[in-house]
Amino acid sequence: MNSVILGTGAYVPHRILTNLDLERMVDTSNTWIVERTGIRERRIVEPGQACSDLAVEAAKRALTAADLAATDIDLILLATCTGDSPLPSTACITQHRLGAKRAAACDISAACCGFIYALAIADAYVKTGLRHVLVIGAEVMSVITDWTDRNTCVLFGDGAGAVVVGQGPESAGILSTHLYANGGFSDMIQVPGAGSREPASEQVLAGKRCFIKMKGNETFKIAVKSMEEASKAAVAANGVAIQEVDMFIPHQANMRILNAVSQRLGLAKEKLMINLDRFGNTSAASIPLALDEAIQGGRIRKGNLVLLAAFGAGLTWASALIRW
Ligand code: ACO
Repeated sequence: MNSVILGTGAYVPHRILTNLDLERMVDTSNTWIVERTGIRERRIVEPGQACSDLAVEAAKRALTAADLAATDIDLILLATCTGDSPLPSTACITQHRLGAKRAAACDISAACCGFIYALAIADAYVKTGLRHVLVIGAEVMSVITDWTDRNTCVLFGDGAGAVVVGQGPESAGILSTHLYANGGFSDMIQVPGAGSREPASEQVLAGKRCFIKMKGNETFKIAVKSMEEASKAAVAANGVAIQEVDMFIPHQANMRILNAVSQRLGLAKEKLMINLDRFGNTSAASIPLALDEAIQGGRIRKGNLVLLAAFGAGLTWASALIRW
């Protein structure tokens, strides 16, 4: 048996934060943000709304699409770097709220690559006999964003996406996954405080060390190279030409990064899935959010070859090739 995606779902908070709103918060402009990132607006949670609230809604929709009950799920993998709290895992909270009584549950931490890392684990389990794995990417990036730092606050948004992975015929499904990491670049994108190295304290808060710090320019260059490398590895492993890919769904970080990667790969523009203009960078949620939109919009059909690629803090980078 192969492992296939049986259903997808997504959920974003209702509140929209536009570039014009950001103009009133920091020294930036709609023109700069659109030209440098492609982002026009992003969704932000209401006060009190947490990661599991988004995850549960996305998961319910994926279960409906897969025509399965929560009790059919054997394992829940929830990719996030902005869980409800350090303990327990957000996956366990989600498991309880879904009523997925038989499911084991844990969080996966690989920043923006979290969804592909979790998908790779689901793929391995399903190919070795597990029946149904619920893979969720859910993030509340707004809580680790410094809303006074124009270098980062224009980039991120909140949201969740989910897929159900189950058994299917040999002719379709997840063909391969490719995971990479290099902790030597851990200072490229980080939240330095509020963990065990610098426990939460007034100093950590005053120094804004519980928010994302990023070397944007260096990250940009590595992002392009690493997504190109992971994408090429995926097609090479399956003996297909990049031109055979019908839909490329990259992590939605920055329009210029996505254009550069597509150009280097030689992929036609219409094969590139983009929704960062409306949602910004939602980290682990970005690929399942875009995947669900592509499915709902009829842009992916049976038999299509779909390439996923991501990079993120760690640094991590990853890809997956799927025959729909
Ligand atoms: N508005 C106006 N000006 C700005 C803004 C802003 N929001 N942000 C930066 N600038 C200014 C800078 O201060 C700088 O001014 P200076 O020349 O006077 O010093 C100028 O614009 C250019 O700054 P750069 O950093 O060189 O701008 P760049 O073109 O590289 O764009 C950006 C910055 C958008 C952050 C880009 O580098 C990028 O997208 N990097 C990758 C980010 C990313 O995808 N990270 C992934 C993290 S996700 C995760 O793992 C959780």
